Amino acid sequence: MSNNKYPEFVPIEPNWNPNTITVQAGRPARVAGAPMNTPITLSSTYVHTTDLGYGRDGNQSWGALEEALDKLEGGIATTFSSGLAAATAITDLIVPGGTLLVPTGAYYGVKNIFARLEMHKRLIVRLIDVGNTDDTIAALKGADAVWMESVTNPTLVVADIAAIVNEAKKLNILAIVDSTFATPLRQRPLDFGADIVLQSVTKFLGGHSDLLLGAVICKSNAHAEFMVKHRQDFGAIPGGLDAFLALRGLEPLPCVLIALKPMP
Ligand SMILES: Cc1ncc(COP(=O)(O)O)c(C=O)c1O
Repeated sequence: MSNNKYPEFVPIEPNWNPNTITVQAGRPARVAGAPMNTPITLSSTYVHTTDLGYGRDGNQSWGALEEALDKLEGGIATTFSSGLAAATAITDLIVPGGTLLVPTGAYYGVKNIFARLEMHKRLIVRLIDVGNTDDTIAALKGADAVWMESVTNPTLVVADIAAIVNEAKKLNILAIVDSTFATPLRQRPLDFGADIVLQSVTKFLGGHSDLLLGAVICKSNAHAEFMVKHRQDFGAIPGGLDAFLALRGLEPLPCVLIALKPMP
């Protein structure tokens, strides 16, 4: 799919516990004497292949992180320079002049993107209370895409993703979920039929407040190809070091989530 799925990765069994996947996925296939981690790739150009030549085309460190996100979310990941860069790429899937439903409590940064696009008549934005399933389903008619943020930042509203996606599919509406605050260890929207998941890797996945990075995880190959091309064309690429650190940050996530559980 993406140009940067090098090298061959250690195989991941679909039935593995996600906690195991966080520490295994994105590591190179076991070869005697080879490093256990995918090395950090810092290069603006490559010895040319048909799909890899320039630094916007791909990077092994992105590929390692994307491999882990693929396996954790059950889709095809493309990483971007930030969560907002990833969100911007998603909006380009919506037809010009299309109507996007957006939760009132969505992260302010994504709402700024939508406001800007509406100002330029690129989109029509209609606000929804995503925690109110009946109202959200009622609002679907006539929309082109529904943006669910669940859990919302910072108001912690939870959407009934399965119910909303079920109705959205009947109307052929693109279903997008910003799942940043849930993480793939707590919620896998693609399993509920959503088309697209957004992760601000900056937050829990990166886990150490030392980088900004975003990811779009798609169910379909066509959407994933769109994301890779978008990243190449617009250049919102992550740094190789940031991708390496994000994958390293992902590994202790299960322990962090256990530690966050309320004490009995
Ligand atoms: C839910 C949510 N979506 C998107 C973003 C934007 O991500 P980034 O800061 O990586 O651009 C954030 C950042 O806080 C967020 O919390």
